[in-house]
Amino acid sequence: MLVAGSMSVPKLILASPHTQRLIASHTETDLVAGFGPLTKVLAYNQQVPGPLLRYNQGDRLRLEVENQLDEPTTVHWHGLRVPANMDGVPFLSQTPISPGESFLYEFDLHDAGTFWYHPHFNSSQQVGKGLRGVLVVDEIQPPTIDRDVIWVLDDWRLDDEAQIVPFNQNLRDASHNGRLGNVVTVNGSIHDKFLVHPGERMRLRLVNVANARTFALVFKDLNPWVIALDGHPIDPHTLGEDPIVLGAGQRADLILDVAGTPGESTLVIDNAFGENFAYELMHLVRSNDRVNSVSEHTPPPRLLVNPVSQPDLTNAEKHQILFEGGAMGGLSGAYLDGEFKGMRDLARLGKLWATNGNIHSDAHNQPPLLTLEHGKSYIFDLVNRSAFEHPIHLHGHSFEVIRNDSGRESPGAIRDTILVGPQESAQIAFVADNPGLWMFHCHILEHQETGMTSIIAVQ
Ligand code: C2O
Ligand code: CU
Repeated sequence: MLVAGSMSVPKLILASPHTQRLIASHTETDLVAGFGPLTKVLAYNQQVPGPLLRYNQGDRLRLEVENQLDEPTTVHWHGLRVPANMDGVPFLSQTPISPGESFLYEFDLHDAGTFWYHPHFNSSQQVGKGLRGVLVVDEIQPPTIDRDVIWVLDDWRLDDEAQIVPFNQNLRDASHNGRLGNVVTVNGSIHDKFLVHPGERMRLRLVNVANARTFALVFKDLNPWVIALDGHPIDPHTLGEDPIVLGAGQRADLILDVAGTPGESTLVIDNAFGENFAYELMHLVRSNDRVNSVSEHTPPPRLLVNPVSQPDLTNAEKHQILFEGGAMGGLSGAYLDGEFKGMRDLARLGKLWATNGNIHSDAHNQPPLLTLEHGKSYIFDLVNRSAFEHPIHLHGHSFEVIRNDSGRESPGAIRDTILVGPQESAQIAFVADNPGLWMFHCHILEHQETGMTSIIAVQ
């Protein structure tokens, strides 16, 4: 793992509240902080990550996306509950934006929180090559803090020339943990230091935009408060020695009260793959600038809830959703477009993951896995009968976590993506209150691409 970095202060993403245009194009960027050549990437507005889009709760987003790539693209607003025709899923919500064309996205921002945006076309490659950015919707009553900081967590598979290793048809990644990188970046570049100011109360928004990697960050004595998950408020609680776990696509908002003296440093490690594979993500180094905090450093109050409908658990309709496949999963076969095929045939066709025994060759043009009634409550039992964990993402809705075997997901949390561990299950509930056709898929993009994707209809 390449985590050594420059001694400089990481450049924060600057707020650009009036960005009205995103241009997707080819560019080059300094991922390795001067330790190698620039990396050829795809980017929005020539930036990796893309520009920070920032709005107030209740605002209307109006943003034109221009495609200067050599293939079609779309933008999906991950976690935002938008109308179906603004969801950015090719063919399902819109005709993909052809090279040279533009598309205007326009919708109201009902929920405050930390969200992100990325293409939903050829996702493993387009996202993996750099197209992603953060979208923050500020609360009407934000918490009292001294500084609002975003860490976009990402990983890249780079060669010795710091170029992205080509995406190939080899199914090894797709049948295991997905395309894990060998270089981890924070805000688009490798770093080993981040300056914090003694006395400050900092809000740290963590966003995992990696294709596949799960992060599990341990902040040790800094003992942050968790105040939101996937943008939605949660009862504030401290982490202590526990990691904050983020599967691909997930976000967390923390409050850090920085104690300590100038020069003192706290090491943040990522131990998502166990202690033996833990690596140093960042040293949080105290600067000489002591801050007279605007906050009393008392426990942060709970943020106001977003207008998410509460599911009626006693009358909810229950469905079991079974995820199977991958290496060491013991899946013998599945129905591909309605026709039973053995695992070997499926693998030859590049399909490795089944949902309730079915796989569809076209991600976007397939019969719905379930058709839900508009306004009704549902409970999904997500059963992972495979050897790998899966961050399962539902479009158009936020759901409540009812329970999960691993205990890594907080019951009661409102999320859009839930990490379901190997051979484990989890239960989620939500009100099907957004009509349309919605993707329901694993956010390990190489799993999604090889079958782990279905459609939920709400009508
Ligand atoms: Cu973040 Cu269907 O995606
Ligand atoms: Cu998966």
